[in-house]
Amino acid sequence: MDIRLNVFNMWAKEWNAFYCYRRATLLSTLIYCSHVNDGLSPEALDVMLTEGRERNAARGITGILLFDGIHFVQLLEGPAPRLDALLESIRRDPRHRNVVVLLQDNGPCRRFDGDPCAMVDLRVLSPEQVSSMIHDRLEERASQACSDDRVFKVLMWYALARGTDHIVEGEDALCWRLVADVPAVIHEVTAESGQNYKFALQPIVDPIRRVVTSFEFLMRSQAGGSPEPLLAAIPPGRRHLLDLESKTQAFHLARRLGLNNIHLSVNLLPMSLTDIPGSVERLVDQIVACGLSPSQVMVEVTEQEAISSLKAFSGAIKRLRRAGIGIAIDDFGAGFAGLSLLAEFQPDKLKIDRSLIRDIHRSGPRQAIVRAIVQVSVAMGITPVAEGVERLEEWCWLQAAGVQRFQGYLFARPAVGQVPAMRWPERILSHGVLPEGAL
Ligand SMILES: Cc1cc2nc3c(=O)[nH]c(=O)nc-3n(C[C@H](O)[C@H](O)[C@H](O)COP(=O)(O)O)c2cc1C
Repeated sequence: MDIRLNVFNMWAKEWNAFYCYRRATLLSTLIYCSHVNDGLSPEALDVMLTEGRERNAARGITGILLFDGIHFVQLLEGPAPRLDALLESIRRDPRHRNVVVLLQDNGPCRRFDGDPCAMVDLRVLSPEQVSSMIHDRLEERASQACSDDRVFKVLMWYALARGTDHIVEGEDALCWRLVADVPAVIHEVTAESGQNYKFALQPIVDPIRRVVTSFEFLMRSQAGGSPEPLLAAIPPGRRHLLDLESKTQAFHLARRLGLNNIHLSVNLLPMSLTDIPGSVERLVDQIVACGLSPSQVMVEVTEQEAISSLKAFSGAIKRLRRAGIGIAIDDFGAGFAGLSLLAEFQPDKLKIDRSLIRDIHRSGPRQAIVRAIVQVSVAMGITPVAEGVERLEEWCWLQAAGVQRFQGYLFARPAVGQVPAMRWPERILSHGVLPEGAL
């Protein structure tokens, strides 16, 4: 019995140690930035800080708040569930808007342990004073490690930045609504018999000018789903031939829909270009046979397949260019080749993968990546296109970051065999004021 009790005690001790360790590791750190709303007086700010201080102390939350008169940047540390709950409250708070999470991570210990809601007023302090004030508030251990601490570096980047260029903010999505625009003629085109695939059209748009700049022709199975299972079931040699030859049907469809004066995009696996002899010439023949012009066509190279021979691929790209066919890198940021592919050859368009676009108005890391992609594109004369845009908030942020071309359900869903109905954003409020005649 004694032995059992001993074993139990040992087990309880171990478990307690593990539990304490787990509790310690569940410490979460969050940094967000936001835009203050008009009407927050200095007195109201003081009240907000006093209340925040009391609540944080009761919940084991510590941190620091930077304010430059326009933006708040707040670092918060505490137990993960409590921090998540506080973030939800902060998001709903009408005293500010555009809450963007810059960093959310776990760590073994706190950086700030003193005043649970200390504010550093960037309006009245020099960068040196800001820096020493933040260093003074750091825990000793954090202070020693701060030069290698990612959390600290993010905080200091915002603490020492001057001006507003470091933060891109989209317009308030509430200033816009979507209006339906049914295409002048909707052609219902039945799929050609004998094929086990068909094509759907989805436009790429410039919403501010209300212009469809091109249509992407998306391959679909007969059931309307992704063509991937269909292509995967075919042996590699024939798969690439089918991929290439299927484009004839897309070009025929474009012809029947009367899309003679607009750009058309088709997807090709990189190996359909490199492994099929005379691939580019075959593509040009298909385009011309359908009464279209090669300069109308853009080939979107998917990154689904690693490019096995960059040399062969570069050769195919040169032949496409000589024929006047445009080139886009599809799903940029989600695939295998990424930046090295871009360094090797520069496409006309860079289509930013939807995984980077989703909720971009709330995500600091996605914003940083997309801003860099836009900057790289502009420097190389490439047009960036945002894929998978579904929300007005995403569009507002992307527009402010310099993206002008968009594709996604927000504007149009793909439609099989026809030009889909469009939705365009229409301004209803100009900086919170209804434009004349809006009601
Ligand atoms: C910039 C800013 C920073 C804030 N910081 C805190 C904070 O550190 N702790 C806190 O409890 N509330 C803070 N608040 C207030 C919260 O948004 C919210 O009003 C408060 O947590 C009460 O939320 P509840 O009404 O959902 O309980 C802050 C508000 C703003 C605008």
